[in-house]
Amino acid sequence: MADLRNHFAGIASPNPFWLASAPPTDKAVNVHRAFEAGWGGVVWKTLGEDGPPVVNVNGPRYGALLTPDRRLLGFNNIELITDRPLQTNLDEIRAVKRAWPDRALVVSLMVPCNETAWREILARVEDTGADGVELNFGCPHGMSERGMGAAVGQVPEYIEMVTAWCKTHSRLPVIVKLTPNVTDIRAPAAAAKKGGADAVSLINTINSVMGVDPRTLTMTPSTDGMGSHGGYCGPAVKPIALHMVAEIGRHRETAGIPVSGIGGVGSWRDALDYLALGAGNVQVCTAAMTYGFKIVQEMIDGLSEYMDSMGFATTADFQGRALRTITDWQYLNLNAVSKAVINQDLCIACGRCHIACEDTSHQAISATKDGARHFEVMEDECVGCNLCVTVCPVPDCITLRTLAPGEVDARTGRAVPAEPADWTTHPNNPMRRAVPA
Ligand SMILES: Cc1cc2nc3c(=O)[nH]c(=O)nc-3n(C[C@H](O)[C@H](O)[C@H](O)COP(=O)(O)O)c2cc1C
Ligand code: SF4
Ligand code: SF4
Repeated sequence: MADLRNHFAGIASPNPFWLASAPPTDKAVNVHRAFEAGWGGVVWKTLGEDGPPVVNVNGPRYGALLTPDRRLLGFNNIELITDRPLQTNLDEIRAVKRAWPDRALVVSLMVPCNETAWREILARVEDTGADGVELNFGCPHGMSERGMGAAVGQVPEYIEMVTAWCKTHSRLPVIVKLTPNVTDIRAPAAAAKKGGADAVSLINTINSVMGVDPRTLTMTPSTDGMGSHGGYCGPAVKPIALHMVAEIGRHRETAGIPVSGIGGVGSWRDALDYLALGAGNVQVCTAAMTYGFKIVQEMIDGLSEYMDSMGFATTADFQGRALRTITDWQYLNLNAVSKAVINQDLCIACGRCHIACEDTSHQAISATKDGARHFEVMEDECVGCNLCVTVCPVPDCITLRTLAPGEVDARTGRAVPAEPADWTTHPNNPMRRAVPA
């Protein structure tokens, strides 16, 4: 039986599934129920400075990108940090941690960029018995206009400075939560590491505008006819987050720093992607908001069964394994050749592959045979681009076959070389390296 116990940045939890800082973790009543459902940890909804609480809009704060059958692909919000008094949150955090000593309870923080403000709140959080802090340098709306959240996360010097303050003024593990609203995630991650962070977590939400109401031509959702950009998350952002997690794992300056993977995790399969690309655990928000706390059971059972089937005793057995399979484009093997293959027994003759390939790819799928509707790949045109596989509505009906070395590519008439060769040595590359004799 797989052992899902997790140790992340010095924080123990019974499994690697944590709830991210957001509405699912904004008060004790939620967090108790989350732990009852089986979540290994939570990052409490971001706390701010003592004083008059934050004010949210009183209209729609959420928007969504839905499929025609109303499945949620992307989620957008303009919610700010907690709007409850600081002391109320701290009292609840203390009580929850006491009631659930085996679960991870990390507190997300966002206060103005001055050392005194950070020192004061850190002392109060430490006093609750919480396991760690997460610095919210990622919130892209509202708070960033006040010089916090993404306004800090977009300036590596600020990240390093605030992280160093937190390490100076607290004994708790410090996780730095990064904003994806930057050109290159490696710079803020490196700054967090330089500042002494015990870990980074990513991603926070992506700047986004959901759309326009066609009748009124106003941004939607809107508050009294006006809208502002929000933060985007949910299934649609997972590939963006995975790329950033992998970049941190591959980069010399940031490799090795523990990473908590966030963005679009809704199942054990999503979690596996993050873990295999180097994350030490995952955090979940949108999926819990869409389907409720019980989704964690599918995550626990699914990951556990997968690990048993692969012979992995702990997540450390496969953590980061897929990182070695990511490289830069210039190092891809240009001698590898694939061709699409249609399984005629599965094909329902819908014609989508033909239309897609005919109109926008390589005109490599015929639509008729002996006067009847029939879809077949013409290997002498197919470049193995994967478009038909992507649009075919029947799982596994179209697959890509890799040609064996020596096999002749019907499109080029050349035999597939046994040796790999990439762009760095390609004859068409004016900057090519000489191939060793
Ligand atoms: C309504 C809402 C409120 C959020 N509030 C916070 C917050 O207070 N602090 C924070 O660090 N992240 C906040 N987030 C971001 C999430 O913690 C998470 O980083 C993001 O939603 C991506 O994960 P997901 O795709 O699982 O939703 C919020 C997200 C949503 C949807
Ligand atoms: S892999 Fe690309 S080129 Fe080949 S048949 Fe499919 S869509 Fe056409
Ligand atoms: S898209 Fe798939 S099911 Fe439809 S015709 Fe092509 S192979 Fe057949």
